Amino acid sequence: MKRLVLSLTFWMPQVLAGEVEVLHYWTSGGEAKSVAYLQKRLADAGVNWKDFAVAGGGGENATTVLKSRAISGNPPSAAQLKGPSIAEWGELGFLADIDDVAAAGKWDALLPDVVADAMRYADRYLASPVHVHRVNWVWANAQVCKVAGARLPVDWNDFFVQAGKLQAAGFIPLAHGGQAWQDATLFETVALGVGGAEYYQRAFVELDETALNSETTLKVFDVFGQIRRLIDSNASGRDWNLATNMVIQGEAGMQLMGDWAKGEFSVAGQQAGLDYLCAPAPGTNGAFSFNVDSFAFFVQSDPAAQNAQKTMAREILSPEFQEAFNLSKGSIPARLDMPTATFDACAQASMADFADAADAGTLVPSFAHGMAVSEAVSGAIFDVATNYFNSSATPEQGVAELVSAIKASR
Ligand code: BGC
Repeated sequence: MKRLVLSLTFWMPQVLAGEVEVLHYWTSGGEAKSVAYLQKRLADAGVNWKDFAVAGGGGENATTVLKSRAISGNPPSAAQLKGPSIAEWGELGFLADIDDVAAAGKWDALLPDVVADAMRYADRYLASPVHVHRVNWVWANAQVCKVAGARLPVDWNDFFVQAGKLQAAGFIPLAHGGQAWQDATLFETVALGVGGAEYYQRAFVELDETALNSETTLKVFDVFGQIRRLIDSNASGRDWNLATNMVIQGEAGMQLMGDWAKGEFSVAGQQAGLDYLCAPAPGTNGAFSFNVDSFAFFVQSDPAAQNAQKTMAREILSPEFQEAFNLSKGSIPARLDMPTATFDACAQASMADFADAADAGTLVPSFAHGMAVSEAVSGAIFDVATNYFNSSATPEQGVAELVSAIKASR
């Protein structure tokens, strides 16, 4: 018996290369396909995947669950974290250092600065970047546009003209899901389109009160408020992917949403340029609101678990993963050295625009997707955006609420 136990102990580490319990919120069609690929890659590398999916677009629900697990001393080994919250968790001592993986993989040279900077805290890598999503997109059903005589809008005046054509032809002009994060995404896109990148940076990244309390912000709320009449009466509570599906089915003409929407068009078998159209959101040509998804790793004492985390961190940056995952997710690779040929026209445009925007200073972090400000500030902006959009408040009231909510949250 003793011999049997000994030989089993001897065998165990070789059989079990470790396990990662992964908390994520990728549950829509395109997201689930992408996450299944990550799971398979890890299985091929000998790492067992324990799935902990918390549904809810934008990750608000997942963040709440993560906090309660971490507070009770039982965090998962890996979780989706992004932007400034990586540093916040790092400062509290929850996150494991993956600097050795980053050094061996030469991440400093491979990653764009804005991506690498978001992954580090105190000069050490604490998270592995999966990709770059662009938030400022407009998507449209090609056939619906043809029937209605509409085209992709170039600015906000044009947006209302094209939406009017769609409405007159009997379509819902804009597919929208009435959830706070989707209202905030819409608000962000309007702010970037109406005010431009410099205004956006000052108002929503630097939180400059003069920029916030300005005529431009008044115009932003005016445009944002006018969109209320272009959505259907069932929008309240609707998930974003169901809104994308309304465009896919030809019920609605357009959707303003980040390029994770492209994952839904792809799983529905639709092709960019043929079945659906994409363009930078109205007024945002040349600007790029970025949203980087990444996995951070929570401190583990078991060496097999640590090893599994490092394998996951390494696999995520492999060129094969960066290509396959991003093809189904709708995003572009986090690595700068990836070939572009297999990506569709929307993704190729996104790659070129990302580089151009970085050079031109028009690359801005998304506040609606956790890249720009602390959770407290973004929470305040979410509340103002959603309350405004779901009321008949005036632009003047919107500006006043925004200024005071941001002030109170800092
Ligand atoms: C995430 C995407 C995700 C989307 C919808 C965004 O905040 O960055 O990866 O697909 O939310 O859940």
